[in-house]
Amino acid sequence: MEIPWWRDAVVYEIYVRSFADASGDGVGDLVGVRERLPYLRRLGVDAVWLTPFYPSPMADGGYDVADYRGVDPLFGTLADFETLIHDAHQHGLKVLVDIVPNHSSSAHPWFQEALRGERRDRYMFADQPNNWQSTFSGPAWTQVPDGQWYLHLFAPEQPDFNWRNPEVHQEFLDILKFWLDRGVDGFRIDVAMGLYKAEGLPDVKDQSFKAASPVWGQPEVHEVYRNWRKLLDTYPGRRMAVGEVWTDSSADLALYVRPDELHQSFNFAWLQAPWSPTAFKKVIDETLATVPFATWVLSNHDVVRHRTRYEVSDPGTGLMRAKAALLAMLALPGSAYLYQGEELGLPEVTDLPPEARQDPVFFQSEGKLPGRDGCRVPLPWSSEGDSLGFSPDGVRPWLPQPEEFAALSVASQDGHPGSTLEFYRQALACRRELAGVIPYTLEWLDSPEGALFFARGSLICAINCGTEAVRLPAHDNVLLASGPLTDGLLPPDSAVWLHAG
Ligand code: GLC
Repeated sequence: MEIPWWRDAVVYEIYVRSFADASGDGVGDLVGVRERLPYLRRLGVDAVWLTPFYPSPMADGGYDVADYRGVDPLFGTLADFETLIHDAHQHGLKVLVDIVPNHSSSAHPWFQEALRGERRDRYMFADQPNNWQSTFSGPAWTQVPDGQWYLHLFAPEQPDFNWRNPEVHQEFLDILKFWLDRGVDGFRIDVAMGLYKAEGLPDVKDQSFKAASPVWGQPEVHEVYRNWRKLLDTYPGRRMAVGEVWTDSSADLALYVRPDELHQSFNFAWLQAPWSPTAFKKVIDETLATVPFATWVLSNHDVVRHRTRYEVSDPGTGLMRAKAALLAMLALPGSAYLYQGEELGLPEVTDLPPEARQDPVFFQSEGKLPGRDGCRVPLPWSSEGDSLGFSPDGVRPWLPQPEEFAALSVASQDGHPGSTLEFYRQALACRRELAGVIPYTLEWLDSPEGALFFARGSLICAINCGTEAVRLPAHDNVLLASGPLTDGLLPPDSAVWLHAG
């Protein structure tokens, strides 16, 4: 069987508002992305995932969509999108767009109609609220002036659709067609385990984002993805879909990637695993045993950047571990998702002042939760200037960049051996050479205490999560190491790729 392009693809997440601002309004845009395509090509990724750029009041950074078939003037025009996709394809890059089917913006014409008392059956209106809480804190219900309530699992500006209404199904099939006809290679599906809520909307005890409960993961949702899959399969070029699916178990996750459903789902267990060989091994074993096509991800626009997650008392550790984890991830069978800025070793920005913060999580929790702005700070492209090259000079970016970003900028790292950026380029280039040579399967090798060794054909990956240096497994030569190797030993917090005949 021909291997589909997405099986081993490295996909780079572009959080559009923080990637590159060409228009000079302090917010990233589609022209900014287009101008940086050569950078992405050089980095060595296969595809990009663009976060929502649709018309939106931006109550949740664009995940509140008011028109699913357009481009917000903040991000450009539909013509800009068409040029971007054309140019991306010229560069050999595939393009995934984000689809938000669980909820729309409260500014969406359907919700505006519902507020006027018409066609409320497209959303979740009720006479009484139940006890569900919003994922962003506070009640999941808001009352409208005539006394009814509507459900929003996120912000009040994000009313949940009623997927028991066939009109919603038809609408989303049409939206998918709209973007497929414009040449997108696939979709990232926001909150893919949402959509349906249990009949009768019973109260819950545990409503954590991933728990199987009346709120999430209802069986009816799978029919939606079967229909989407049928549609995707009618287009040439192996169009695909990857679901944002938070579950408690890999068995649950596997339901979403049955052969007639989604092609992939994110594997958040990998991102949530602590720095431990046993935790890593457990996730890898469970993943490979349950899903036909594995994916791996360490960071995205919703979580604390992994460099900071891995940081312990010694300040250098986070970056060392982040680079080691990258080598482990890129050596695993399947596809990997990178988040913009991780190739620069960007840390989470933890000291944004309250007045700069924009995430609804911060406001809805009344400042108790910091929210996700710290991983969304605009990228530093140059080491000087008002926005470190993110915006044209003289423009301030929508979130302030910390001073330390200057030394981490693309310009500061480009061409410097030993920089994180050059390390990512080497790792991706090496992975590209190995693709097609090494098998999809993985074999565990005996590993010393604290370390994890595995092989895929002639490639051996060794990662040391312990506190002592360990002896390397038998090999012919070293392909790439995340840090210096001393006397044939792999130091703590590092990883290496080896070639063995
Ligand atoms: C997803 C997105 C997140 C957004 C939420 C609501 O989890 O990744 O950024 O806030 O859905 O749309």
